[in-house]
Amino acid sequence: MVNCCEKPQFNKDYAEMNKTESGERKKPFFANELWFREDEKNLLQNKLITASVRVGDRTAETVDPKNGYKEGRFIRIKIQKEDKEFDLWQTSAVVYAAEKKTLGEIEPKDLAGTPLKTKTKTELVEKLKRLYGKEFTDDEIVTIVRFEYEDNLKETNDLIRTKALTFAREPKENPENLDFPSFTIPLVEHDYPAKTPIMWNAAYREFHIDAGNIMLVGDPKQCGHILNTLRKDPKYRGGGAGVGFKDEVIPFLDEVEPLAKEIGAVNFVLKNPDGKFRGFNTDGMGYAQGLEEVFKKKGGQLFGKKAVILGAGGAGNAVAFALAEKGMRIVILNRSSEKAKNLANKINNYFNKQDAGELVRFGGEDHIATEVKDADVIINVSTKGSAGELEKYSALAPASLPANAENIQKNLQLAAQTLSTIPRSVVISDIVLGKEPTPLLQTAKDAGFETLDGIPMVINQGVEAFWLLYGKELQTKNITKEQVAEIMKRAASS
Ligand SMILES: NC(=O)c1ccc[n+]([C@@H]2O[C@H](COP(=O)([O-])OP(=O)(O)OC[C@H]3O[C@@H](n4cnc5c(N)ncnc54)[C@H](OP(=O)(O)O)[C@@H]3O)[C@@H](O)[C@H]2O)c1
Repeated sequence: MVNCCEKPQFNKDYAEMNKTESGERKKPFFANELWFREDEKNLLQNKLITASVRVGDRTAETVDPKNGYKEGRFIRIKIQKEDKEFDLWQTSAVVYAAEKKTLGEIEPKDLAGTPLKTKTKTELVEKLKRLYGKEFTDDEIVTIVRFEYEDNLKETNDLIRTKALTFAREPKENPENLDFPSFTIPLVEHDYPAKTPIMWNAAYREFHIDAGNIMLVGDPKQCGHILNTLRKDPKYRGGGAGVGFKDEVIPFLDEVEPLAKEIGAVNFVLKNPDGKFRGFNTDGMGYAQGLEEVFKKKGGQLFGKKAVILGAGGAGNAVAFALAEKGMRIVILNRSSEKAKNLANKINNYFNKQDAGELVRFGGEDHIATEVKDADVIINVSTKGSAGELEKYSALAPASLPANAENIQKNLQLAAQTLSTIPRSVVISDIVLGKEPTPLLQTAKDAGFETLDGIPMVINQGVEAFWLLYGKELQTKNITKEQVAEIMKRAASS
């Protein structure tokens, strides 16, 4: 291994370091560590070093020269000793800037926070010469990596300042500030026009709760670090675990509700007054409530009815558990029947149904045409019909890829054939959200079926989460959960 402190055999070692075990060149990557010399340990321990100058362009994923430094990424600060071993002391920090410059462009202010011996450009050039055993000219590119010690992150704003989190731009009315006496934060892996901020902020205004809901984007792999800081911030009351965070948050929570644990996904984190984090899954419950409404309007109930669930991913888990809890008879059909089997077994075990046989049955997509014929509701929870390559496919038939005209046609024809065998009394539902109804919902609507889209699920899971946090307080003001639902529904459709 090579570090900044080594001398000439540098190039040879680099070549070795950049190869995988099988001898192939490594893919470019961002660093997880930043190494310092033994004589810099004291300064690091006293948090006096907050920047480092590294040779080469290290602002992107790279292998040679070494790896890059990504803004907002948590890294380990380590000390490499003269004997190449690492000191036992190390600490965690977040990189908040990686700035590329030529040596000629470096000014004294750029060296702020770097080790004492590099306070002037002359000292820096001398140090580089000593470390690398070569002359450096003014056009040599270097990268100034700036970092903040994780211990110093005390509030949510520190995560924004260091770019570990950024404001989501796409949701309507997402406040791009944290200027509230308290707030809830939905965390998501990528920006998208989610309804959460508009729904929650409408409820805050309506019920005079002086708080804000701000959606922030971050890397789910850094969940532990993000929650560490959110835990310290008295203004943070909890919030959603959205796309990418649903399973990643679980190891960092103090308590997970049994159903959420079984589903393996948390979509809402509640911060107790004692600072403890509790995880809930309100997704499935939200869907079940929407479906219950549909059946109530038809004069029926969910208990004993047959649901054919198409898909067995994260959302499939939540929906299947919630419908099983309502006493529905369930058939899970998934592209990978092994996954459908695992989910069916999990639910049967959870509800102690294995002896009685089958609360939940399972199968592959080849069972769709036969199982839907006597269903009461058919629900797509797979990604068929969602934006991207599967957008034009119906969930009622297998989807062969690539998404060319022939494969899509084959899928739609088979789906139409299957649809024509389904009694018109069956409810057809799709939780996939998009600008247009999915092919499954559109063809069902055109054929005169009653349909249920994914919007009630979004609203109801939000209402449940809001009630978990503010229910007691609202009840003292005689405000009901139905009133919260009304406000959130209006906001979501605005
Ligand atoms: N309305 C709402 O509130 C709401 C909430 C959550 C999710 N959703 C939507 O629900 C959908 C599923 O989300 P998720 O989180 O459950 O995703 P996920 O965990 O990635 O699961 C994907 C599911 O789609 C199936 N699938 C993927 N590609 C397929 C293909 N080519 N052919 C057939 N099946 C395929 C997978 O089958 P395999 O197991 O065989 O791979 C799996 O069952 C997404 O569109 C999501 O946006 C909506």
